Amino acid sequence: MIGISDLSLATGHHVLDLAQLAQANGTDPAKYRVGLGQDEMSVLAPDEDVVTLAASAALPLVQRHGTDRIRTLLVATESGVDQSKSVGVWVHRLLGLPSSVRTVELKQACYAGTAGLQAALGIVARDPRQQVLVVAADVARYDVDTAAEPTQGAGAVAMLVEADPALLAIDPVSGVHTADVDDFWRPNDHASAVVDGRLSVSAYLDALTGAWDDYRAQGGHGIEEFARFCYHQPFTRMATKAHRKLAQHTGAALDEALLEPTTRYNRRLGNSYTASLWAALASLLDDPTDLTGERIGLFSYGSGAVGELVTGVVRDGYRDHLRAEDNLRVLDERKPVDLATYRALHAAAGARGSEDHDVPVATSAPFRFAGVRNLARRYEGVAGA
Ligand code: COA
Repeated sequence: MIGISDLSLATGHHVLDLAQLAQANGTDPAKYRVGLGQDEMSVLAPDEDVVTLAASAALPLVQRHGTDRIRTLLVATESGVDQSKSVGVWVHRLLGLPSSVRTVELKQACYAGTAGLQAALGIVARDPRQQVLVVAADVARYDVDTAAEPTQGAGAVAMLVEADPALLAIDPVSGVHTADVDDFWRPNDHASAVVDGRLSVSAYLDALTGAWDDYRAQGGHGIEEFARFCYHQPFTRMATKAHRKLAQHTGAALDEALLEPTTRYNRRLGNSYTASLWAALASLLDDPTDLTGERIGLFSYGSGAVGELVTGVVRDGYRDHLRAEDNLRVLDERKPVDLATYRALHAAAGARGSEDHDVPVATSAPFRFAGVRNLARRYEGVAGA
C-alpha cells in the first residue's frame, strides 16, 4: 500500500479581496463570490516566485520526517523560471536535501502534480524503503482587465509519498485522458497565459468523462463506492460543474453539498494551477468530519489537455498527521493589498528579466528570491522566518 503521508500548503505574502476588483470594474461582487466561487486571491511579493513557494511548502515535511529516506524530489509547475534548470534544484538546496537525490521539474499545465504523484508511486513500488517528495506549485497569472483576471492566485502543496502512508492510500487503478486542445497555454515569450475560458470549461468536462470511462474500463470502482470527490478548481464553482457532469454521465445522484469542504482553501488562494487539486484534498482532510476508511476520487485536469482520475482510501488515524492549523495560518497571515498595489505588483512581476538586479526583502516566508547576478537567479533563506 503506497500513498500520501503528509500534505503542507504555502502561498504568497499578499491577498486581494475580490470585492475590490469587482468594485473597480463595475461587476456585481456576487459574480465572483457565487458565480465563480472565489472570495480572494493570493498575490506574490516581489521576492517570491514558484521556487520560494515550493520550498516553503516542503520545509515542514522535511522538518517532520527528516531527509534520510528522500531520494527523489519532483516539482510540478507551469510557472517555471528557467528553460533548462529545474525549479527543484533550487528547492533541493534551500531545503538542505542530501546530494544523493534525483531532482526534476514536470510540466503539463495544471495536471503535472498528478504526474508527479504517479511517478512517485512507481518509485516507491520498486523500492518501498524510499520516500518521494512531490511539490505542486504555481502562480496563476492572466492579463488585467480580462474575464480571467479574478481567477488568478498562487499556491504550493508539498506531499510526502511513501509505503504504508499516514493519510491516503492510492488505489492501483486510475483513469487517464489526453486530447490536443488549444484552451489555455503560455507561449515562451508571454508572461501571462493565453486562455479561451469557455473552451477550457468544456475541455475540462470532456476530460472528466473520458477519464471516468477509462477508469471504469480499467476495472476501477463503481460510483457508489465513493464518499467524496475532489476536483481541480481553477475557480471553486468549477467543482460543482464537474460534479454535475459526473452525476449526469454516471446516472448517480451525487450530493453537491459534500463539495464545500474541498473548496475552503481554494476560495481564498485563487487558482494555484497544479497545486489546486491537492489544496482541495488538504482542505477536505483538514475538515473535522471523520473520513477514516472512505474512498475519495481526485480529478486532475491540465489544459492542453490531460485529465486523470486518481482514487484512494483514507487511512486509520489520519487525523493525527494533519496540519489544519498551519494550513489555515498561511492563509490568515497574508497581508491585504488594495487594487492599486496588486496592479503595480502584477505589472512589475518579472519585468527585470535576466538583467543583474537585487530584490529587497519583502516576504515573511522562509525563503526568498534575492535577484539576478550574471544571468543566474539567486535564492536565500529569510532570517527569523
Ligand atoms: N451573481 C451570481 N452569479 C453570477 C452573477 C451574479 N451577479 N453574474 C454572473 N454570474 C455567474 C454566471 O451565471 C456564470 O455561472 P455559470 O458558469 O454557472 O453559468 C458565472 O457567474 C461566470 O460568469 P460568466 O459570464 O460565464 O464569466 P466570464 O465570462 O466573466 O468568465 C471564466 C468566466 C471562467 C471563463 C473566466 O474567468 C476565465 O476565462 N478564467 C480562466 C480559465 C479557467 O479558469 N478555466 C477553467 C477550466 S481550466
